[in-house]
Amino acid sequence: MIQATHAKWMAGQALAARILEQTRLQVEQIKMASGVTPCLATVLVGDDPASATYVRMKRKRCEDVGMLSRRVELPSGTTTAQLVAELCRLGDDPAVHGILLQHPVPAPIDRRDAFEAIPLAKDVDGVTSSTLGRLILGLPAFIPCTPAGIMRLLQHYQVTLDGAHAVVIGRSPILGRPMASLLINAHATVTLCHSRTRSLPTLVRAADVVIAALGKPRFVQGGWIKTGAVVIDAGYNPGNIGDVDFEGALEPASLITPVPGGVGPMTIAMLLHNTTLATAQQLQLSIEFD
Ligand SMILES: NC(=O)c1ccc[n+]([C@@H]2O[C@H](COP(=O)([O-])OP(=O)(O)OC[C@H]3O[C@@H](n4cnc5c(N)ncnc54)[C@H](OP(=O)(O)O)[C@@H]3O)[C@@H](O)[C@H]2O)c1
Repeated sequence: MIQATHAKWMAGQALAARILEQTRLQVEQIKMASGVTPCLATVLVGDDPASATYVRMKRKRCEDVGMLSRRVELPSGTTTAQLVAELCRLGDDPAVHGILLQHPVPAPIDRRDAFEAIPLAKDVDGVTSSTLGRLILGLPAFIPCTPAGIMRLLQHYQVTLDGAHAVVIGRSPILGRPMASLLINAHATVTLCHSRTRSLPTLVRAADVVIAALGKPRFVQGGWIKTGAVVIDAGYNPGNIGDVDFEGALEPASLITPVPGGVGPMTIAMLLHNTTLATAQQLQLSIEFD
């Protein structure tokens, strides 16, 4: 576990706390203007302990900001059709403003079919193909929470993306791909790497901004980091270990996210931000959002 704070650290925990406080005030505003309390439905399928922990954390944060959370827990034997039916019910329920399907879901379920059952207006986790398509085109959409949190961190620390070379490691639909699109939309030149990429260290050495999102503990070595590069570690591996060798990367990096306390807290903050925004849109309230 990393102990001390450092001038180069990107303090996700502190920024997330500020976003949650703003969200709490926006929830208040919505309640006063409409009498409605924003509600996030969290859907958990099966009994994976890590997923159960993540969902519990998200529900707790909902309470912290005065939001309701609708708990839906389905057994591990749930079929794709049953899950789709449940998500459609939540989609039709006007008292639910955002829907989060905790993933991974048990293997027999077709995850893509399940995600597509979430209506665009309630896709606060940014998992549907419509959301991803809109994001690629630079159209308004709920940005998937981890890439959204990373963009907020980069913005907060005034990292110049216009013209910068960004290397994103990982191409998952919820993280690497939307991340690459957001960086392109911010005028970065993006290299998107994955498990078949050749000469990864050479590519990373050329990067002004490195986003590690591959799910392999301490995979990105300090010696790969160009002096002055900004290093974002989205990885979250057992034992609170990121995808970057933090100690090795700290010296060359100009800014770096710690694990824990970097990207993780931002993800939950952005989920609640998106849910508040979704509620305001559904109720046609004009409330100011960043
Ligand atoms: N902090 C948060 O809130 C948060 C949220 C979500 C995820 N995460 C973390 O972020 C990490 C990635 O999550 P994910 O859901 O995107 O994972 P994922 O769906 O498993 O995708 C991993 C990606 O990394 C690529 N990859 C795997 N090994 C590689 C290697 N040796 N070299 C280069 N690329 C490689 C894979 O390439 P292929 O496509 O070729 O297989 C894939 O695109 C995990 O540690 C996860 O826990 C954190």
